[in-house]
Amino acid sequence: MSKETNAKEFPSLIQRNGFSKMSAAGGCLIAFEGIDGAGKTTQAKLLYDYLKDQGQNVLLTREPTDGPYGQKIRELFVSRQKVTPQEELDLFINDRRQHVEEIIKPALHEGWIVITDRYYFSTMAYQGAMGLSVPDIRQRNEEFAPVPDLVILLIARPGETVERIKNNRREKPNNFENKDYLRRVQDIFLSLKDSFIYRIDGHDVIDAVQAEIQKTINQLITVRTAKGGSSARSA
Ligand code: TYD
Repeated sequence: MSKETNAKEFPSLIQRNGFSKMSAAGGCLIAFEGIDGAGKTTQAKLLYDYLKDQGQNVLLTREPTDGPYGQKIRELFVSRQKVTPQEELDLFINDRRQHVEEIIKPALHEGWIVITDRYYFSTMAYQGAMGLSVPDIRQRNEEFAPVPDLVILLIARPGETVERIKNNRREKPNNFENKDYLRRVQDIFLSLKDSFIYRIDGHDVIDAVQAEIQKTINQLITVRTAKGGSSARSA
C-alpha cells in the first residue's frame, strides 16, 4: 500500500466504526498494555465486542498504526539494527502523534469509548528497555497524548509468551520478542505505579481474564456516569 493510501485510512477507520453516530457522554480512553504474547489483542477485541453489544459508542484501535510511521515500524520487526534506539523512539512517537490527532482525540471529543491496543506505556517499557530514559519518554508523550482513564496491564511470564507466539501464532518471534529483552520490558511495566494502571494476570483462561476486565470497566463506567461524564485527562 502507498503512503497516501495509508494516511487516508485514518478517517475511514472512524467511519467503519460508526463514528458519525455520536454519544452525548464524555469520552473515555482505555489502553491495553503488556509484553508480546500476553493476550492484549484478544482481550481488547473481546472488550470491544462486549461494550458494542451494550450499545456503547466504542472504537477499537491499535499502535503501531497502519499509517506511514506504523508501516516503517513494522519493517523494523525483521531488522531492528537498521536504526538507533533514538530513531526508533522518534518513529513510535511520530506514529502516536498522528494516531492521537487523527483518531483518539476526535473520538474522545465526541464522547466515544476508545480502546487502544498499546499506547505510550509501551514506548516507556520497550524503548526504555533499550536504555533510553523512561521519565523522558513519558514526558515527551504526555506533551501531546491524553493520559488514559484506565490502563489494563496484562502480566505474563516472558518465557511463556515467547512460546505462545511460536506455538499459537505459528510465527517466528520478531526482533522485539526475545526473552531477556521482554523481561526488561516487563520490569518497566511493573515499575509503573499510577493509580489508573490496573494489573491483570494474563495466565488465566481467556474468559476469566475477560470477566475481570469487564468488571473493572463496568466500575469505571459507573463512576463516570455518576460524575456526569468526561475524564480523559488533557494533553
Ligand atoms: P504488537 O502489539 O505486537 O503489534 P502487532 O500485533 O500488530 O504486530 O506491537 C509490535 C511491537 O512493537 C511489539 O513488540 C512492541 C513494540 N512497540 C514498541 O517497542 N514501542 C511502542 O511504543 C509500541 C506501541 C510498540
